[in-house]
Amino acid sequence: IDIKTLRGATGGVTTIDPGYKNTGSCESAITFLDGEKGILRYRGYSIEELAEKADFLEVVYLLIFGELPTKEQLDQFHADIKSKSVVDDDIKKILDAFPKSAHPMGVLSSLTSALTAFNPTSVNVDSEEEMYRAIVKILGKFPVLVAWTLRKKQGLPLDYGDNSLGYVENVLKMMMKKPNEEYVQNQIVVDALDKLLILHADHEQNCSTSTVRIVGSSHAGLFASISAGISALWGPLHGGANQAVLEMLEAIKEDGGDTKKYMAKAKDKSDSFRLMGFGHRVYKNFDPRAKIIKKAADEVLADLGVEDPILDIAKGLEQEALNDPYFVDRKLYPNVDFYSGIIYRAMGIPVEMFTVMFALGRLPGWIAQWREMRLRKEPIGRPRQLYIGETHREFKAIDKR
Ligand code: ACO
Repeated sequence: IDIKTLRGATGGVTTIDPGYKNTGSCESAITFLDGEKGILRYRGYSIEELAEKADFLEVVYLLIFGELPTKEQLDQFHADIKSKSVVDDDIKKILDAFPKSAHPMGVLSSLTSALTAFNPTSVNVDSEEEMYRAIVKILGKFPVLVAWTLRKKQGLPLDYGDNSLGYVENVLKMMMKKPNEEYVQNQIVVDALDKLLILHADHEQNCSTSTVRIVGSSHAGLFASISAGISALWGPLHGGANQAVLEMLEAIKEDGGDTKKYMAKAKDKSDSFRLMGFGHRVYKNFDPRAKIIKKAADEVLADLGVEDPILDIAKGLEQEALNDPYFVDRKLYPNVDFYSGIIYRAMGIPVEMFTVMFALGRLPGWIAQWREMRLRKEPIGRPRQLYIGETHREFKAIDKR
C-alpha cells in the first residue's frame, strides 16, 4: 500500500501513540539528541562546547540560520534586533490591568500575543525577508516584556533597555535596575545567565516546541505561535519544573531536610508526588545540560559568596536517587531544571520568574523551528484519533430525557 492510499481521505491506518512517545512529527536539521547516550548538539555543535565557548546571541543566530555567524553577521543581526526593541507604550496599559498576583508566565504569554495587535505586518509572513523582520522584532521586544513582567510583579517602574549593552547584559539590567540606585553590572551573573540561556535554547520536538510548530502550521503568525509555546512551557511537567523544583527543595528544608522521606513519597504509587527535576521523556541517561548546570551552580554560588543549604539538599537527593533501584531501573536522572533554579535564586531572580527565564532561553529554538517548518512548507498539523464514544444515538427532546 502506498503512503497516499494510507492517507486516504476516508480513513486508512491510524497509529495510536498517546504522548507521541514514538511518533516523529517532522524532519529537522536543528537539534540532535541521543537520549540513550546523553548527547545534545545544536546544528552539529556539542552543547558542552557551545556553553563553554559561545555567547547566547551567537547561539541564537546558529539555531535560526544554521551557521555560526561571522563578526559582521553577528553585529548586523544585533543591530537589527536593537532597532526593533521598542515596545508600544500602550502595552504598558495592558500590563497595568493585570493583578499583581498574576503568574508571570500568564502575563508573558498574553503580552506576547498582544504584540500581534501592535505589529499586524508581522502576522502574514511568507518570504524569508518578512520572516527575518518578524524574527528580529520578537527577539528585540521579548526581553523588554520579560523585564516588565518582573517589574510589574515587584511594583517597579518600567523602562526600555540600554542598546549600548550586549543582549544578555541588557535584559539583566532591565530586570534588575532599582530606581534611584546606580546599577553595577556583575560579570559573574551575566556569564551564568548567558550559559543558562544557551543550555535552554532548543531541545527538538518537546511539548512547547511542538506547540509552536503546530500553531504555526496553520500559518498563524510567529508571535501567536510563540505565545502558545509559552503556555505549553508553563506546566510543571515541562518548563514549570524549575519553579516546582525550588518549591520542593524549600519544602524539604522547611520539613527538617529529611530527603529520605521525600524519596519514599516519590516512589509511593498511591501518592501523586514526583521528585521534580527528575526524569525525562527522551533522556534515559544523564541530561548533559544537568551536568553543566550542576558545575555552574557550584561555581556561581562560590563566586557570589552565596551559601545555600538548598544546594546540599539537591545534591543529597541526587546521590540517593543514583543509588536507588526505583530511579535506576526507570532511568530517572536529574534533568536540566534540577539545578537551574538554584542559580537563578543566587542571581536574585524570584522563583515565580524561573519559567519566564526558561522562555527567554527557549525563544530562539521556537523561532528556528517555526522558520524551518515554514520554509519546508510543512502541511497543517492535524493528528487523528481512535473514536471510543457512543455510536449513533437518537436525539431526545429535553422533556423526554
Ligand atoms: N519521580 C518519581 N517517579 C517518576 C518520576 C519522578 N520525577 N518521573 C517518572 N517517574 C516514574 C513514573 O511514575 C513511571 O513509573 P511506573 O513505570 O512505575 O509507572 C516511570 O517513572 C515512567 O514515567 P512516565 O511518566 O511514564 O515518563 P514520561 O516520559 O511520560 O514523563 C516526565 C517524563 C514528565 C519528565 C516525568 O519524568 C516527570 O514528571 N518528571 C518530573 C517533572 C520534571 O522534572 N519535568 C521537567 C522535564 S525537563 C523539561 O521539560 C525541561
